Amino acid sequence: MTGTWSDGAAYERFMGRWSRLLADAMVRWLDPEPGARWVDVGSGTGALTDALLRGAAPAEVVAVDPTAAFTEHARARLGDQRVVVRTGAAENLPLDSGTADHVVSSLVLNFLGDPVRALGEMVRVARPGGTVSCAVWDYAEGMQMLRVFWDAAVALDPEAAELDEARFPVCRPGALGEVFAAAGLGDVKLGELTVPTVFADVDDYWEPFLGGQGAVAGYLARLDGAARGALAEEVRRRLPVDDDGAVRMTARAWCARGVTALSGG
Ligand SMILES: C[S@@+](CC[C@H](N)C(=O)[O-])C[C@H]1O[C@@H](n2cnc3c(N)ncnc32)[C@H](O)[C@@H]1O
Repeated sequence: MTGTWSDGAAYERFMGRWSRLLADAMVRWLDPEPGARWVDVGSGTGALTDALLRGAAPAEVVAVDPTAAFTEHARARLGDQRVVVRTGAAENLPLDSGTADHVVSSLVLNFLGDPVRALGEMVRVARPGGTVSCAVWDYAEGMQMLRVFWDAAVALDPEAAELDEARFPVCRPGALGEVFAAAGLGDVKLGELTVPTVFADVDDYWEPFLGGQGAVAGYLARLDGAARGALAEEVRRRLPVDDDGAVRMTARAWCARGVTALSGG
């Protein structure tokens, strides 16, 4: 696993406010039938589960995540009798086979050591003829808030490239489709989802990066105060700041949906 996940409130400020917009867009893209049984893998603080409750009229949603601080945050926040929040990892889901109509996962696949194995687990949990869908940020280009950060970091320190999330191969549409096919999913459909990321000002952009969440946390932990200050300056220099002080960017994600075999095999 790559990335640090430890604090629900810090995650919400750093990424949750944007992953919630993405989750709504993903549910619209999936255009699901009402009354289905869903599993949300790597559910974190509950962004996608919440979007399913609001946009998919589900019969039930099982939200699974290994980070206790996030599952506690999700439990406290969701409070809907259709939701069960469980602790568990994508590679070994604590769920019976064939029990979900749809298995979904947002912003998780690239953090896993073996995405095909994790997708295989999602296939196991879905019923025959059910679906598995995942979204991942387009770190290489269209996820602008992270692109600015990593471009600034690499400009000052080429070794930052080791941690730049653009290195995740599965975050390109061709590779995403390939891992879906490798996990035995058929009729794979790829999509592109873009959401606005609007920051009130430069501080609203920068301060959440210091909250210790995600892959950026691992890089920032390496830097002393002076190096962090230099990076903050470099980031500020690159940000598109409007006359009103706001920073208006967008974040693009790739999304894939595949269908499990009717035989269940
Ligand atoms: C970027 S967050 C995404 C959370 C949520 N899906 C969202 O869209 O906001 C990545 C999540 O992956 C979870 N995660 C890390 N390793 C995992 C694993 N092996 N299996 C499932 N989830 C994992 C983390 O706990 C974290 O909640």
